[in-house]
Amino acid sequence: MMIYKTDEQVEMMRKSALLVSKTLATIAATLKPGIDTLSIDKAIGTFIRDHQAIPSFLHYKGYPFNSCISVNDVVVHGFPSKKELKEGDIVSVDIGVILDGWHGDHAYTFAIGDPGEAVMQLIRITKESLYKGIEKAVAGNRTGDIAFAIQEHTEKKNGYGVVRELVGHGLGRSLHEDPQVPNYGKRGSGAKLKEGLVLAIEPMINMGKKDVYTEDDGWTVRTLDGKPSVHFEHDVCVRKSKADILSDYRPIEKAEADNPNLFTQNKMAATSS
Ligand code: MF3
Ligand code: CO
Repeated sequence: MMIYKTDEQVEMMRKSALLVSKTLATIAATLKPGIDTLSIDKAIGTFIRDHQAIPSFLHYKGYPFNSCISVNDVVVHGFPSKKELKEGDIVSVDIGVILDGWHGDHAYTFAIGDPGEAVMQLIRITKESLYKGIEKAVAGNRTGDIAFAIQEHTEKKNGYGVVRELVGHGLGRSLHEDPQVPNYGKRGSGAKLKEGLVLAIEPMINMGKKDVYTEDDGWTVRTLDGKPSVHFEHDVCVRKSKADILSDYRPIEKAEADNPNLFTQNKMAATSS
């Protein structure tokens, strides 16, 4: 069953999504080699609770942490741990909140130091594919149109692996609502999109093959070939001619640019010229 949100409800959801953006930006400012991901997770929990919200991932189907922090070949659902980040790592930080009963759920992948040109390209293409998917999140289209756009940009144009086992989703009073939003598929297939539908669109793209496995902890998803994987996620509301992006990468990108320990496309251009 798909649940369409009123304009008023969409504004409530924007607040939830933007709290996640703000949390991600705050975390981005603190990332550096030597920091362990459990301390990042603790800071995330504190920041969310300080803003009158609840970390929604904690206890979700028994998930034991505030956030998912996925390093290198971990695709998603990585457990925060005492292990320290090091130069050349990439790290996806995925955060969910409940604010006044409404969910926000979005994610960003950061580069700690220079992971090399090929990995920076994977990051760039995955982020681009998210926006190409969002362009298709308009009334009258179907989830398969979003899926096709993402797959086209990542798999067909760049030869990357699109993860099949995990998908984007509807979002609202629950973390996972209908419809499912795969990152692969046929144009014109899947659920029809109508105004007021809020979606979490989240490409999970592998440098190598698409295959993944889940560790014995029941959560950690890794690439089978051990190559890196990138994850970006936005919350968007379907509208007539253009989707309304409720979350916001601008504060995160600002923090990323200002943090000398983080590598970005711009910093890459600056060092190679
Ligand atoms: N953003 C992910 C999702 O949409 C993470 C949720 S898994 C959780 O499915 F258990 F950590 F909540
Ligand atoms: Co999600």
